[in-house]
Amino acid sequence: MQPEIHIDPQRLNQRLVELAQFGALPEGGISRLALTDADKSGRDLFVSWLRDLSLDVRIDQVGNILAFQPGRGDAQPVLLGSHLDTVRAAGPLDGALGVLAGLEVLQTLQELDIHTLRPVALVAFTNEEGARFTTDMMGSRAFCGELPVEDAWDVTDFEGVRVGDELRRIGYSGDFPCGQVTPAAYLELHIEQGPVLYQERVTIGAVEAITGISWQAVTITGAANHAGTTPLDARRDAGLAAAKVIQYLRELAQFLPDQRATCGRLSFSPDVINVIPGQAVLTVDLRNGEDAVLKKAEQQLAEYLAALAEGENVEVTSRILMRVSPSRCDPSVVTWVETAARGLGLTCRRMVSGAGHDAQIMAHTCPTAMIFIPSQNGISHSPAEYSRPKDIEAGANVLLHTVLGLADGGTG
Ligand code: GLV
Ligand code: MN
Ligand code: MN
Repeated sequence: MQPEIHIDPQRLNQRLVELAQFGALPEGGISRLALTDADKSGRDLFVSWLRDLSLDVRIDQVGNILAFQPGRGDAQPVLLGSHLDTVRAAGPLDGALGVLAGLEVLQTLQELDIHTLRPVALVAFTNEEGARFTTDMMGSRAFCGELPVEDAWDVTDFEGVRVGDELRRIGYSGDFPCGQVTPAAYLELHIEQGPVLYQERVTIGAVEAITGISWQAVTITGAANHAGTTPLDARRDAGLAAAKVIQYLRELAQFLPDQRATCGRLSFSPDVINVIPGQAVLTVDLRNGEDAVLKKAEQQLAEYLAALAEGENVEVTSRILMRVSPSRCDPSVVTWVETAARGLGLTCRRMVSGAGHDAQIMAHTCPTAMIFIPSQNGISHSPAEYSRPKDIEAGANVLLHTVLGLADGGTG
C-alpha cells in the first residue's frame, strides 16, 4: 500500500462542476434524464475527456460508453463505472461521481506510469435511473446479457418514445456488442444516498449487499361524475381508491421488516377540480434486502388491491415495470475495499445499499463491490444532494487503491 499514490481532487471536482452544467435547472438541481439532449451533451463532454487520454473508446448497442486502458497482460479487465443520467431535479453526484472518479483513476495511473497486470476499463451505463424509461439499470442489464438488446430498444417512455430511436437521435447507438466483455471484477464508487455514514461520521462504506426493487404501475378505473350532485354511495371514485393505496403502502412498510414502499407518481383523469376522478394511475416502488420479504410485500399489495376493487366498486389492474432481486457483493472484493480504506487511514464500515445501482446487476456476472461516501443529511435524488470535497477525494483514492490491488492479480 503506497498512500503517496493518489488522485487529483481539484481535477475531479472541476469535472464534476463542468458536467453538472448539462441539465442544470434555473431553480437549482439537475435534470439529465436518459437519452435527452442534456444527457447527450454530458456524454459528449465525457467522451472528449476519454479521447484526451487516448483511451480505446467504444459505444455499445444500448449506448453504454466504454473505455479501455491496456494492462501488462491481456486478461479480463477490472471495470469501474456508474451512470451519467439523473432523475428529475437531482443533485450533481448520483452516478456522475462513480464515472468521473473512474476517469480520474485511469488518468492517475497514466500520469504515474503505472501499468497494472490486468487492463482497467471504465463504463458509463445508459439509463441507470429508470426515471424516463422505467427499466432501470438498463445499460448494465444489457451489458450482462440479462436484457436482450432489442427489448431494451423497444422500451418506451411515458410519451411513447422508444429507447432505440432516442439512441440514434443523440448519436449513441453504437455497434460494440453487449455481452462481449466479462470483467474480472466491477467496482462502483457512489454517494451513500442515505444517512448512515453521515450520522456515524464514518468516511467509507464497503457495500456488502444491495436492496431488491419491485416497480409496478397500478391503474384504477372508476367513473367520472359530477363532484356536487353524485351521492356518496353512488360514487366510483378512482382518486379515493388511489389515496387508500398510498396509505396502505405506509402500513406495509411499517408492518414488514426493513420494508420500503413509495408512490412516486400519481395522475388523475380527467384531472378537473369539480369532477370525481374516473381513472387514477400510480407507481409503486417496493424495496427490501431480503427477497422473501419483498415477495411478501408484493403479494400483500396484490391482495389489498383486489379487496379495494371490491370495496370501492372500481377496477384495479397492475403491471410490473421492473423487478430485481437483492444482490450480494463479492466478499473478497469487499475486503479489498476495506483494506484500501484502512491503508489510507480512513474510517470504514460494512453496509447494505437501500438504493439501486448498476453494481447489483454486475454482481450477477462478476465479483463486484461498491464504495460509499457520506451524503450530507442523507439527502439524494434532490438538488440538496451534497458530499464534502474531502469525502469525494477519499472515496476516489479508495477506488484507486482497490483497483491497484485487484488489477495486479487480486481477482485470482
Ligand atoms: C436509483 O437511484 C434507485 O435507487 O432507484
Ligand atoms: Mn446512482
Ligand atoms: Mn439515483
